[in-house]
Amino acid sequence: ERIMSSFRYRPEILEGVPERLTQNLKQFEDWFVLDAAELKKITDHFVAELEKGLTKEGGNIGFLFNAIQPMNVTWVKSSPSGRELGRFLTLDMGGTNLRVCDVTLSEQKGDFEQTQRKFKLPQEVKSGTGEELWDFVADRLKDFLEENPTGAQDNTSVPLALTFSFPVDQKNIRSGILQRWTKKFEVSGVEGEDIVPQLEAALARKNIPVDVVALINDTTGTMIASHYRDPQIKIGSIFSTGTNAAYMEECRLVPKLEGYGLPEDAKVIINTEYGAFDNDRQILPFTPFDHQIDSESLRPGTQLYEKMVSGLYIGEMLRLVMVKLHEEGRLFQDKDITRLRESNVVDATFLSIAEIDTSEGLDDMRKEFEGLFNFSPAVDEMKVCRYLTGLIATRAARLYACGIAAICKRNNIRECHVGVDGSVFNKNSGFKDRASQGLRDILDWPVGEIDLIALNASEDGSGVGAALAASLALKEADQIKT
Ligand code: GLC
Repeated sequence: ERIMSSFRYRPEILEGVPERLTQNLKQFEDWFVLDAAELKKITDHFVAELEKGLTKEGGNIGFLFNAIQPMNVTWVKSSPSGRELGRFLTLDMGGTNLRVCDVTLSEQKGDFEQTQRKFKLPQEVKSGTGEELWDFVADRLKDFLEENPTGAQDNTSVPLALTFSFPVDQKNIRSGILQRWTKKFEVSGVEGEDIVPQLEAALARKNIPVDVVALINDTTGTMIASHYRDPQIKIGSIFSTGTNAAYMEECRLVPKLEGYGLPEDAKVIINTEYGAFDNDRQILPFTPFDHQIDSESLRPGTQLYEKMVSGLYIGEMLRLVMVKLHEEGRLFQDKDITRLRESNVVDATFLSIAEIDTSEGLDDMRKEFEGLFNFSPAVDEMKVCRYLTGLIATRAARLYACGIAAICKRNNIRECHVGVDGSVFNKNSGFKDRASQGLRDILDWPVGEIDLIALNASEDGSGVGAALAASLALKEADQIKT
């Protein structure tokens, strides 16, 4: 594994594949393979950028809007004690699905009950109006409540936490102005607006008696939920449709919190929104494919790091690479590649299936391939694709490691656990191994020693994590009142 991630490698998969197919693969290695020195350079720049986002100017909506990652203050200031109690509804509006949960936290730490339902977010909803979006959310919540009544009396509202996986500027945990849509969402009338009153208006229209008490990011939920189970967790991260991380910061080190009169020892979770890292194109090794993905995206010039790393884009990356090899006269010469020419036909699942397939004839990969592209490639061509998948996925995982390493370096974290949620990370163990190898390369750990910074699969950020955030928010509101 070490050799594999460290350079000019010819993985076994290409053994026996004729020269005419492999001849010009070196140019792809030049584009996609990143050695330890490159990762270290990117990480150092990353550290400086994290710092910038914490300044007063950093991350605000304004003329620097695109350049700096926001480093958003989440107003989650403490960790759960384990004695949180009660029943909470949670809504998760992320990338692909809308998830509704009913979570009951009980006296016993880590003990909870949860009922949940997932609804696919239709494309029209992701690109319609704000009102349509919030009505859709409220309707699904209503469906859920009809099936799972909370038993609350008519006029007592049940507390609800919303996990909203987009960058928001928050002045408190009960509100948040959407800074910008990411991940191919393009809903009108929401950017620059506080989303909580928008959701509340939809709930009122549908007569749903709930009380929105907390608005959190998915990374924040992951951080809270994983820390609840494992106190060694210092970072919560998502490696999925999008890519992002949150960590606990000392308020006195955050210039943009000056003037808030917070106690000297106060801490707060920062949602880095580092998918926006390097939007000013200072350091990342962009390939022609990255430029193409960005320029053809809904929002060119934004989320440039995320576009190199996350699940929403790596399938498209593989597609572009295959098309290029076709045009260079290498792959699928006698085939009708009409389907392969369609943007966004490949998603990250295809990469996971390809990588997990260890059969001689790559049977699972073939089945998937034929289903997607409507033609049948030669086994040797499949092997080349599998090899390219490895290059793209390895680059994504190693770049992912830079963000985590940067948070650790900036905060002098020498040892910790990182809670990672997301389909890309959880469905493909290769990502975890490669990202861990990336961390070893960046942080110069001796070979064979156990990882001081360990990436651990985590889940339930938007269920238990959000319920805990709601409980902390209610407790704080109570303390302010009394
Ligand atoms: C995008 C969003 C961010 C979220 C991440 C993972 O980067 O902007 O808020 O945490 O995707 O879902």
